Amino acid sequence: MVIEVRGSRLYIGGLEAEGLAERFGTPLFVYDRETVVENYGRLVGSFTYRRVEVLYSCKANSNPGVLGTLRDLGAGVDASSPWEALLAVRLGFPREKIMLTSPGLSDEEMRFVRGELGVLVNVDSLSQLRRYGRLFPETEVSVRVNPGFGAGYHEFTTTGGLTKFGIGLGSLGRALEVAREHGLRVVGLHAHIGSGILSVEPYARLARTLLDLARGLPHVEFVDIGGGMGVPQRPGEREFDCAGFGRVLSRIMEEHSRDLGDVKLRMEPGRFIVASAGVLLTRVVEVREVEVGGSRRVFAVVDSSINHLPRVAMMGMYYEVVHASRAGEPAEAEVDVVGNLCVAGDVLARARKLPRLEEGDVLAFLNAGAYAYSTSMNYNTRPRPAEVLVYRGEARLTRRRETFEDLVSTMVF
Ligand SMILES: Cc1ncc(COP(=O)(O)O)c(C=O)c1O
Repeated sequence: MVIEVRGSRLYIGGLEAEGLAERFGTPLFVYDRETVVENYGRLVGSFTYRRVEVLYSCKANSNPGVLGTLRDLGAGVDASSPWEALLAVRLGFPREKIMLTSPGLSDEEMRFVRGELGVLVNVDSLSQLRRYGRLFPETEVSVRVNPGFGAGYHEFTTTGGLTKFGIGLGSLGRALEVAREHGLRVVGLHAHIGSGILSVEPYARLARTLLDLARGLPHVEFVDIGGGMGVPQRPGEREFDCAGFGRVLSRIMEEHSRDLGDVKLRMEPGRFIVASAGVLLTRVVEVREVEVGGSRRVFAVVDSSINHLPRVAMMGMYYEVVHASRAGEPAEAEVDVVGNLCVAGDVLARARKLPRLEEGDVLAFLNAGAYAYSTSMNYNTRPRPAEVLVYRGEARLTRRRETFEDLVSTMVF
């Protein structure tokens, strides 16, 4: 692992976390390039089926250093808005490796993505399919299916079943009629059923469902099983069975490809690729001891907040906290690590046993590479952190810290 504790100090990509905090300031997101490469390689390397394509789901982390790393590895991009598609095009991803999936896609957005960018649209509803057909008859399209079941670690991230996502199996016949009326060639069948999935079974079931549906469609080039492969957040938590995933899905694809020809398997991992590659470094501003009615609690108030790790507040996401210079030393107190926002719910980590803490110490939130910066906010008019990519002892600023001027640049005074 390239994010590791040596002695009592935390190192990221060969660099001391404290040194990075000093050089670039805090709060700071640090991404380790080698971990991204490893995670990508582990997923792709688990397949014996050769026609596999990874479209990295850049809603998880759209940092240009991370995206550039994945582009160089040969990945494509799962975009969830026209702007993510545009970003991928700007960063040099081949258009044929980008696909847009978005609920609520307007005609104007479709015109831009298909007409101007030349990117494939994965329609998410019957309405989208009808409107797409009118705008771009006789072209290629992919269809997002809702297979009627979801999976994952939280209702917020479960997207299959009774949710707003995709065309239900019962409406698929109608969808294919609409596609025929407009001369559309359905080249892809897609589903994304949820996030934080640790077992292989939902993917096997999903792949079989999509492949069975693909039989009736003469133009299908790929089935896409979405993303959602989970990552352990707490020490000792079960890992995603990556080897089993590749083995089982390869077998299913090989069986079906006998009848379906060269059908490709696409997937859209986000969290799996980037979560473990990212660390949020933050400095302790104050250590407060509060006593009320005989109860005592210690708060470490840091210069970050739920602005930078919103999923703590949204869905109780757990992040492991490491003292960057006293890691592994005996715990001295039970501490609540809290942010600098004026809101009571700004609790980043509750009741953690941490080594001695002093003002100015650097704390690291691990596994912060996914859905952290990309979901961050400016609440309390606080600028977003900078982002740095490290690789074998070198650090490169890949997004500068926001300034007050950035925050007011859209305001009309
Ligand atoms: C369509 C689609 N594909 C892929 C993903 C990536 O999910 P994850 O980061 O859990 O792999 C998402 C996440 O919301 C999604 O909506």
